[in-house]
Amino acid sequence: MNFQTALQKVFIWFFLCVATQASFGQKSKAVKKQKILATDLSKAIYKDAGLPVNQRVKDLLSRMTLEEKIGQMTQLCASSITLDGTKNLDLNLEKIRGYIKNNHIGSFLSGTGKAQRWVDFVTGIQKVAITETRLGIPIIFGMDNVHGSDYTDEATILPHNLNLACTFNTTLAADAAKVTAIESADLGHIWNFAPVLDVGKNPIWPRLYETFGEDPLVCARMGATFTQAFQNCPEVAPYQLAACAKHFIGYSDPKSGWDRTPSEIPDQILREFFMPPFEAAFKAGIKTLMVNSGELNGEPVHGSKKILNQWLRKEMGFEGVIVTDIKDINKIVTMHGGAADEKEATLKSIEAGIDVSMACSDVNFCRYMLELHKEGKISTKRIDESVSRILKLKFELGLFENPYPRADRLNKIGAKEHYTSALKAAEESLVLLKNEDGILPFKPEVQKILLAGFAANSKRNLNGAWTFEWLGAPENRQPSGMLTLFDALKLEMPNKEILLADSNAETPNHPARKSFLKQAEDVDAIVLTIGETPYSEFKGNINDLKLNDNQISLVKDAIQTGRHVVLLYIGGRPRLVKDLLPKTDAFIFCGHPGVAAGEAIAKVLSGKVNPSGRLPFSWPSESSHWVPYYHKKSDKYQPLFSFGSGFGYSSFLYSNLTLSDTVLSAKDFKPLKVQCSLENNSHLSGAEVALWYLTDEVGTITRPVKKLVHFEKVSLNAGKSTSLNLSISLEDLSYPDEKGNRVLEPGFYTLTIGSQKARFRLK
Ligand code: BGC
Repeated sequence: MNFQTALQKVFIWFFLCVATQASFGQKSKAVKKQKILATDLSKAIYKDAGLPVNQRVKDLLSRMTLEEKIGQMTQLCASSITLDGTKNLDLNLEKIRGYIKNNHIGSFLSGTGKAQRWVDFVTGIQKVAITETRLGIPIIFGMDNVHGSDYTDEATILPHNLNLACTFNTTLAADAAKVTAIESADLGHIWNFAPVLDVGKNPIWPRLYETFGEDPLVCARMGATFTQAFQNCPEVAPYQLAACAKHFIGYSDPKSGWDRTPSEIPDQILREFFMPPFEAAFKAGIKTLMVNSGELNGEPVHGSKKILNQWLRKEMGFEGVIVTDIKDINKIVTMHGGAADEKEATLKSIEAGIDVSMACSDVNFCRYMLELHKEGKISTKRIDESVSRILKLKFELGLFENPYPRADRLNKIGAKEHYTSALKAAEESLVLLKNEDGILPFKPEVQKILLAGFAANSKRNLNGAWTFEWLGAPENRQPSGMLTLFDALKLEMPNKEILLADSNAETPNHPARKSFLKQAEDVDAIVLTIGETPYSEFKGNINDLKLNDNQISLVKDAIQTGRHVVLLYIGGRPRLVKDLLPKTDAFIFCGHPGVAAGEAIAKVLSGKVNPSGRLPFSWPSESSHWVPYYHKKSDKYQPLFSFGSGFGYSSFLYSNLTLSDTVLSAKDFKPLKVQCSLENNSHLSGAEVALWYLTDEVGTITRPVKKLVHFEKVSLNAGKSTSLNLSISLEDLSYPDEKGNRVLEPGFYTLTIGSQKARFRLK
């Protein structure tokens, strides 16, 4: 070996030593760093439940990469992570790992199945999010539990919102919220896309039954009560739940009447009639909000800075999470033509103010957000704003501490006491609108009853849509213990003979029609179900309110028999029945009363329940003319049944309306104290819905002929009286202008309750 080779060898040896040392050093440094990171994380501020939420948010945010942040802003549908791509709850582990580890998705929604399968499904997702990611941020799962935990087999199906509104009893909205909360929380359904706060003033709009009707105050009080009870339900501990105010704003009154078609509503009208339910929910502390899918006054709401940023965030001060409706960023392009492509639409909706994209089936949102950030069009600050809100929600709900569903209390799902709540709500929601010669409740001499029509022996039609499936599950997936109307009538009136007509009797030329007429020959009364089969959203678009021809012909044939005819209206919105009513004996609006519908209706027919529902909407008499009860003076209000219609088997008398003053001073204002006596002047205990209306007689902006300022449901024993009290504030006497300033004008006002009227002046 010459000197040069020896030197070379020494050099190589030295180099190898140094290199190995270095790589060892690096490795051990990395190991150390990892260890530090792990210990760091277990002691990280964001993991400490004892620290203030803001501190935890700040800490977690500071540890997140841009990709992780954007993932938190994205929500995907269950169907994108199941084995067969449907809503059935078989988790595809590979897919969920991909979405959570590569795209850092922070939220999922929807699905359907048994309670235990829900527990397994959400646990599976949560495990990946918590144990297989760097920061272990739990996902938040969203559901449309809009009338009970309605995507869980055998859960308690409550009446739809329109029915709840018919009760005019806010306690029942609170009960419904509680049942929904208890039957949702343990399954991991932490985020509920309810309540619907759209004001249902357009009867043809196919989502009317999801609303609390046409009156802003009823929507506001029902919605706020639901929100408060749902988000503060101690029975669901250790979980906490988030409600979602939807759909902001102007969704419910599209010009064409069809779902997700343009609305043109002046700002002043929006502020006076459409915003109050949202404002009330904000006051009740609602944590999230969903955006209107449609376009309002020429702007797709998802891309409107004016609506989401100026009105919602700045003026109304909403600080919670704003979620888009399903796939709606892309719909700015495909449905509205409000952006050239999805990337531009993403920018628009981020600039407008959305926090979470309910992207549902793809991760384009993540991709475009990254690109837009790289191009400097969306700042880190803007992303941090949204992510902070989302993390705040997750911390506030205790998701970091209690991320997993639990299976030890599943017996609460469909529990007996929940059925009792559903029954009470269903009973109080039935609105008796006609009862000629007191045919109802059925007297002993009515011995034989023929039950007919599309809902006579069907559970699906009573529960309506959003029941186990979007459009309402088929009969064989409806609750096993639920009674159909036929079952319920037999059970309720064992001494009477109840016959069931073949459901084909609706079809005029079907032999079943002849059999129906034959059956009718020797019955005392015919109970006929008419109305609509379940539908959701655009699936319920119709061109006019005409009732199905077959149903009309069945009713006409029933009338021809000369028997007593009782019509039960089952369905989501009022259809035209004006021509049918004169020759029928009784008419009840039943809506979609849920799992206890059969029993509730049967008890009203038998008299065990004294009906106390009132219409929370105006029932049109014509297809082409409808206005709400708070129409302007120059319009004509000629509904078939006006807002608040309905009566029971007892009767009530209003008297002695008195005011504490008849001249009020705006400068030195003292609330006006009002009193009125209410007497149950019948021989039967019952409940009355007291509706207080105020009329501002003259206004710079023309005033509605009257507006509900207060309502309450009062139960009174036979022959008893009570005193109703009301206090009128300055707020009640004023109205918002188009900018939202309250306008208070001197002049005369009239207060009305029942038959009573009183006039006073503001100076
Ligand atoms: C509806 C929303 C619902 C969402 C998620 C949309 O089609 O408009 O009300 O929350 O789907 O299911």
